[in-house]
Amino acid sequence: MTKLSNTIVPSVATRASECPYAVDVIAGKSYWWCACGKSRSQPFCDGSHRGSGFEPVRFDAVRDEKIWFCGCKATASAPTCDGSHNNG
Ligand code: FES
Repeated sequence: MTKLSNTIVPSVATRASECPYAVDVIAGKSYWWCACGKSRSQPFCDGSHRGSGFEPVRFDAVRDEKIWFCGCKATASAPTCDGSHNNG
């Protein structure tokens, strides 16, 4: 974590998994993806981010489908996997 004047900026999220999480989402339901990597309910937020500077990312399902939620927390297309876990 980096402290800039009075703002705390998270440096790097915790790598929760080496691969994405496949989740069958339900149309009309909202999901909160864990961005910090500290949740015990991966890939979703359980509130463990408090004080870290990270915030969960909302995903609104528009249809019933399988979504690959990022597990490494390095994706550039949060909350879904973009293959970044393959970059080490
Ligand atoms: S627990 Fe990780 S973003 Fe909430």
